[in-house]
Amino acid sequence: MDSTVRRDQRIVLVTGASRGIGAEAAAQFGAAGAHVVVNFREKRKRAENVVDGIVAAGGSASVLGADVCDPAAVETMVEEIGRMSGRLDTLVLNASGGLERDADPGYALRLNRDAQVNLATAMLPLMPEGGRIVFVTSHQAHFIHENDNVPSGYAPIARSKRAGEDALRALIPEFRSRGVGFTVVSGDMIDGTIIVRLLERRDPDSVESRRAAGPLPTVEDFARVIVAAGTEAVADGHTYFVGGDDYLAAGALTR
Ligand SMILES: NC(=O)c1ccc[n+]([C@@H]2O[C@H](COP(=O)([O-])OP(=O)(O)OC[C@H]3O[C@@H](n4cnc5c(N)ncnc54)[C@H](OP(=O)(O)O)[C@@H]3O)[C@@H](O)[C@H]2O)c1
Repeated sequence: MDSTVRRDQRIVLVTGASRGIGAEAAAQFGAAGAHVVVNFREKRKRAENVVDGIVAAGGSASVLGADVCDPAAVETMVEEIGRMSGRLDTLVLNASGGLERDADPGYALRLNRDAQVNLATAMLPLMPEGGRIVFVTSHQAHFIHENDNVPSGYAPIARSKRAGEDALRALIPEFRSRGVGFTVVSGDMIDGTIIVRLLERRDPDSVESRRAAGPLPTVEDFARVIVAAGTEAVADGHTYFVGGDDYLAAGALTR
């Protein structure tokens, strides 16, 4: 076991934790006493800064780079975490994308569905009874079948994330057979994120219409719920909703 990891600590892997919501969730897990494995794809320096912040605040964390779309890199991650701590208590499937300028048309599904399923399946043998898998998504993806009024260009990404959620939900019996729970955290547009700042320039009406429905949650609000979803006792398959009461009022709460 890594000398920075204590036996009584929850081991938490947050994918895509080099910035934004993942970085804040990592910081909050660290502040709550977990050892946080901060995953990144490209931005090692940013991920190291997230780790340094957690350590400076008295917590423990380590950095682990991997493109989650690359099965070999995921396998290496499994081995590294196995070597470091022998187990993974909470897996937060936060990394997401598809709007990147160089993304090919199949990338969103490969990342938001196939890679999530592969990662959850690959990590499962490391997860003890009482472990938890958390899938992070947006209302615009979660409710895409009921409401496809999403920012221009976002519909394929929203569908790919909903496909990822559905594919993971189909695995609940397998997770359950190992004593591992599964939860989903779905949020409205989150204030202060790069995506929302980008949309404010490219498609300001889409952000304005969400603001008109009520104040947008902050990154800190959303991360707090991710931490709860990764730790607290709750029904298997539960969906936590953050912001966007109008989506819920539209009658889709049961999904
Ligand atoms: N932003 C919102 O308004 C909003 C609202 C509701 C839900 N959400 C959900 O919250 C989550 C985080 O969103 P965000 O806005 O914080 O994202 P973001 O700022 O775009 O950050 C994405 C993170 O994912 C990493 N990443 C991207 N592709 C990856 C890959 N193939 N393998 C490993 N890591 C990868 C990036 O790492 P590198 O920088 O190192 O490449 C980065 O750390 C997503 O699931 C999103 O759907 C966001």
